[in-house]
Amino acid sequence: MSNFKIKSVEEYNAAYQLSVEQPEAFWDHIASHYSWRKKWGKTLEWNFQEPNVKWFIDGKLNITENCLDRHIEQRGNKIALIWEPNDAKEKAVRYTYREVLKEVNKMANILRKLGVQKGDRVCIYLPMIPELTFSVLACARIGAIHSVVFAGFSANAVADRINDSGCKFVITSDGLNRGPKQIPVKAVVDEALVHCTTVEKILVVDRLGWPVNMEVGRDFWYHEELKNVNDQCEAVEMDSEDPLFILYTSGSTGKPKGVVHSCGGYMVYAGYSFSNVFQYNESDVYWCTADIGWITGHSYIVYGPLLMGATTLMFEGVPSYPDAGRFWQVIDKHSVNIFYTAPTAIRSLMAAGVDHVLAYSLHSLKALGSVGEPINEEAWHWYHTHVGKSKCPVVDTWWQTETGGIMISALAGISELKPAHAGLPLPGIQPILVDGDGKEITGNNVEGYLCIKFPWPSMIRTTYGDHERCRINYFATYPNLYFTGDGARRESNGMFRIIGRVDDVINVSGHRFGTAEIENAINQNKKVIESAVVGYPHDIKGQGIYAYVILNDYEENNNNQTRDEIIESVVEYIGRIAKPDKIQFVTGLPKTRSGKIMRRILRKVAEGEINSLGDTSTLLDPLVVEEIVTNRLTTSD
Ligand code: WT7
Repeated sequence: MSNFKIKSVEEYNAAYQLSVEQPEAFWDHIASHYSWRKKWGKTLEWNFQEPNVKWFIDGKLNITENCLDRHIEQRGNKIALIWEPNDAKEKAVRYTYREVLKEVNKMANILRKLGVQKGDRVCIYLPMIPELTFSVLACARIGAIHSVVFAGFSANAVADRINDSGCKFVITSDGLNRGPKQIPVKAVVDEALVHCTTVEKILVVDRLGWPVNMEVGRDFWYHEELKNVNDQCEAVEMDSEDPLFILYTSGSTGKPKGVVHSCGGYMVYAGYSFSNVFQYNESDVYWCTADIGWITGHSYIVYGPLLMGATTLMFEGVPSYPDAGRFWQVIDKHSVNIFYTAPTAIRSLMAAGVDHVLAYSLHSLKALGSVGEPINEEAWHWYHTHVGKSKCPVVDTWWQTETGGIMISALAGISELKPAHAGLPLPGIQPILVDGDGKEITGNNVEGYLCIKFPWPSMIRTTYGDHERCRINYFATYPNLYFTGDGARRESNGMFRIIGRVDDVINVSGHRFGTAEIENAINQNKKVIESAVVGYPHDIKGQGIYAYVILNDYEENNNNQTRDEIIESVVEYIGRIAKPDKIQFVTGLPKTRSGKIMRRILRKVAEGEINSLGDTSTLLDPLVVEEIVTNRLTTSD
């Protein structure tokens, strides 16, 4: 099945060259390994001006037939999904390919029965339980467009996402487990729906056995509905370019964007990249610790692994519960061979001490992956030495929600590794660096803005409901290029080293937030007149959130109670994941004469670089800088 798997540096070089010289032939070959109801005609049509990108034109398929049905003959009894619960004492659950197909069919039949049709948007707001995977695939099976919202987002954030895409159906649960805590989930949906008009029905999975508010005619228990459906469900035929899902992500403006991915191209790239980056072999057990609420979970817990007939592990819990050895315990318990996690998790486990790792054998591990933010060398070495016992390649995978799949990464066990370097692009991916004018910077040992100059199958097609936003965000900065928003270096051997975001986006524990989005949330607080948010280096999270806040009554409200209330506003408007780490009350912000906040100065102060603030003479009121510097919060605050 997977003879598009590259097995040596020579094969990589040949594949890369072919992908640049004859991209259509290259992708035709990759795509031919999937099962299509009808083969595509033209391979590619594109321009980056509108933008308009179409892959595998007029091809017909259903991605779930590729994830499930086509494996039944050879792998029907192979374990497709291992579910490891939050509580180490609760039994893990294993589903074979045949069983997952049945569960997906049942869920698909329930959705159909409750009125969900092809093209409808379904919001999935669930914790990491098997029903989340089944829901995603059930939507795909009947052609409904899933919009998974991470279960840590607040009611307001859920409402915004439901409204933006006009979801008609929500799948949720009574509550969720998070380490020692149990947290309500359905109640959040109820609160969100006060602000939504499009949702007709809600399906509720019973995870905790909690009594929840169930509105007759609107809310349905999953376990009740299961009694009335069978396990057969014909997959709906989809066009290559039909949308498969929407996933919201933050940008430099206040409102998150609904990134739209298509059925055909996304499928082709998810399987291809999974197989190559991780070098998956038929008997491997693979574990990605992300949440399915993020793109990493979509592409590398659900779609990529299942497309390749892999055994994928899904974990409900957190790395620190019951103690900081949980990841390593789970690896030994399920004999995990390939492990994919985030630098922030590595750093927090590093801080907990190496004894937690040394308590486990970890001998099953063959390859390790990292994703979400630049991995610092110290964390890379700790991961490589203590987790990988210096025998497992560590692949540092650079990509984005918008790219759908891994773009720049070593191939495990094949490519040369260099700590803190993502490495070379996958065949089919053409990254370039440009300067501020959009001029390509050639050669090595150079630094610039990272762009992609040729389309790839899993690239973003549009931002839901607002194509112009997609154009402006990604295709207007530099003509004829997709702009990533990242800065990067190309080192002597052509390897890329990602530096980080160059826009007003901060990356906290591998999650993206727009500074404007957090400012909006802070400004909801009645005591706040204005705020400015910047990122600063944080030992565990990569970047922390530093907020400068102007209060309506400084003397009265300049206290910790106000700080707590501001944090509460952020938790309410976005969710606990976006809590500011530091809040400094200020009487003014450094603004230019035209009223623009000089974030550069605020960033420097947050980073503690107070001796290199640069030119402040163009400021409206240079004195505010002195006050901000004097009252700055340092690491120990
Ligand atoms: C941004 C995308 C891709 C899944 C998780 C995050 C940063 C991602 C790396 C890496 C350096 C990385 C970039 C990118 N990023 N992976 N290996 N090295 N930076 O997805 O939320 O869409 O964020 O994460 O800044 O633009 P996302």
